[in-house]
Amino acid sequence: MTAAASPAAVPPAEHLRAGGTSVVVAVGDGRLPRILHWGEDLGKLSADALAGIARSALPAIGDSAVTYPQPVPVLPQLAEGWLGRPGLVGDSEGRRWASTFRAVSHRLDDDAEGPVLRVDAVDEAYGLALVLELQVLHASGLVRQRAELVNRGDEPFRVGGVELALPVPHAAAELLDLTGRWSLERVPQRHPFHVGEWVRASRGGKPGLEHTMLLAAGEPGFGFRSGRVWATHLAWSGNQVLAAERTPADTRHLVAGELLLPEEVVLARDASYRTPWQFGSWGDGLDELAARFHRHLRAERPLGARPVILNTWEAVYFRHDLDTLVALAELGAEAGVERFVVDDGWFTGRRDDTSSLGDWDVDAEVWPDGLEPLVARVRELGMDFGLWFEPEMVNLDSDLARAHPDWLFDAGHGPGLPSRHQHVLDLGHPEAYAHVLDRMSTLIHALHIDYVKWDHNRYLLDAGHQPDGRPGMRRQTQQVYRLMDELRSRHPWLEIESCASGGGRIDLGVLERTDRVWPSDCNDPHERLEIQRWTGLLVPPERQGTHLGARSSHTTHRTHPLAYRAEKAIWGHLGIEVNLLEASEAERSRIAEWVAFHVAHRDLLHHGTVVHADLPEPAARLEGVVAEDRSQAFYALSLVERPRTWPLGRLGLPGLDDDADYEVRVVAPGGSTLHGAQPPWTSAGVRLPGRVLRVIGLEAPALDADRSVLLHVVAVR
Ligand code: DGJ
Repeated sequence: MTAAASPAAVPPAEHLRAGGTSVVVAVGDGRLPRILHWGEDLGKLSADALAGIARSALPAIGDSAVTYPQPVPVLPQLAEGWLGRPGLVGDSEGRRWASTFRAVSHRLDDDAEGPVLRVDAVDEAYGLALVLELQVLHASGLVRQRAELVNRGDEPFRVGGVELALPVPHAAAELLDLTGRWSLERVPQRHPFHVGEWVRASRGGKPGLEHTMLLAAGEPGFGFRSGRVWATHLAWSGNQVLAAERTPADTRHLVAGELLLPEEVVLARDASYRTPWQFGSWGDGLDELAARFHRHLRAERPLGARPVILNTWEAVYFRHDLDTLVALAELGAEAGVERFVVDDGWFTGRRDDTSSLGDWDVDAEVWPDGLEPLVARVRELGMDFGLWFEPEMVNLDSDLARAHPDWLFDAGHGPGLPSRHQHVLDLGHPEAYAHVLDRMSTLIHALHIDYVKWDHNRYLLDAGHQPDGRPGMRRQTQQVYRLMDELRSRHPWLEIESCASGGGRIDLGVLERTDRVWPSDCNDPHERLEIQRWTGLLVPPERQGTHLGARSSHTTHRTHPLAYRAEKAIWGHLGIEVNLLEASEAERSRIAEWVAFHVAHRDLLHHGTVVHADLPEPAARLEGVVAEDRSQAFYALSLVERPRTWPLGRLGLPGLDDDADYEVRVVAPGGSTLHGAQPPWTSAGVRLPGRVLRVIGLEAPALDADRSVLLHVVAVR
């Protein structure tokens, strides 16, 4: 069969350009917007060039494929001939289920954050309106888009889901996403981008420990420094789906949307549903892709110097009393700690993890005079004060659950499976929300709490709102955001950490309202190296809590010397979980040296550009942070196991200024870690041009497994 060769109509196009990214969009011909290019900056484009791009982006139409609407709009529609994942799923009692939106107008504005295209579309027959927003951000070159669906009809419209798509070119032939579990978050996996759908869904009311955070598609073998790669992320802390979809006609795109439960969103006349922002980043290598997210977060809310934390959790767990915690605080202050955080165990009845979540009053038996004497001493020592909460959770064994069993989620079978002995408090009950807000706010005010470690240890499995058991999953995330926002506006000094059994709630939605995330409960440097590296695809170092753990890791029981544990902790928002009460004076003074080193260099560590070398030896890792003006950098070379290749050979240092000269020195706060015959430059240092350091590099020092060497590289004039 031969299709008649009728030339397709060429749509007009718009060019959005910011932060080193170009997005060219076909729009203005009545169809929903189609992205014709997303990635490298195309420079200023004339009207003719734009028209040319639109003309040359129309594919040949093959036999029997005449209805395929290529290029595919950001919200693909079945009724237009799209046979893949639908952009909108919804209906009114079985009708209005095959929407066909026509774009009626569009506007390109230059907002302060970056150019934004707003497209208004309607489905007149269905009485539905759609507003699509697509923006490229000046500070980062990130792309973001969202949709708002409005019901203009009389019949309620039930939204099943709205997913938006960012296209990637055919060069994107390999997928990368992340998996994991408790204490082993963010494990990368790769595979070819086959025809079909690669779907990563989160259904537990938070992204989860297993969640991918990002879904990336790139040129085969893309690494940190090379290979063009594109990725998507959803700025939402609740149920969600990320998918990479490739059709038989070779449309490839990255899809993101919120996962909705039955009737979570039913739109009455004139009511609307707005999707979370879908973000897109790209780069030549993952470092560039990640740097866009880092720049975005840094521009959105710049943070002051990150105070060194002492967190009580691994030091004392639930064993709280004034004398112990004061002694710990005193030793912390001596080591250079600037913020003392009391973890789980301070509230009424909480002696272990079986009871009391929800009873957010200071335990009168353990703390007869309240937390005030501890807080006073902490302040006297010149430190901030932080406190742990798990606001969304409740134990059945608590005064709260006994008084208000109807505030617990219940989808019709009782409170459901406990996890860590706990259940979930339904913040969709206004009184439950008010209770938590009041308890937290009162304490934050009374103690002038500087920092809340906000934990979340159970998935939402049965999030039915009592009495009828209708899903309250989505509302829970909205209420958490509201609670965080309200606490911050009442107490503007307050910082919040997002923790969920470690890295279970890490996304740009929660990062808009929190100051850092806790990437993992695992403080073992062997695991932390990888967890921090992959969490870093989204989260810059200063927003990752990185703590110095015990010699024998509490989660893996591996043992590591202080130097390796400390080296892996200094890159992020540094904290200490070692029990200083049991540490020798010598150990405490070495810890103090590492803390002082971190404090002296945190400006660079927390504002620089993160770089990773792509090394052929699978046992070696080389990563660093380079100052924005490339005047200096730190690198760490680590071996995660015994290397197959020995010696490793010369290692190029990425990210420096080719045309500057640099002095490279091994630095070893707390004492040298290198032994045996080493390359001469490791003792005497070496001066070389940036280009030489990048292209030829330095012969690697000899290291044992799970050991590292730290380099300071400074430009010399
Ligand atoms: C889980 C967190 O991830 C830990 O850091 C700690 O805060 C415990 N909860 C406390 O119960």
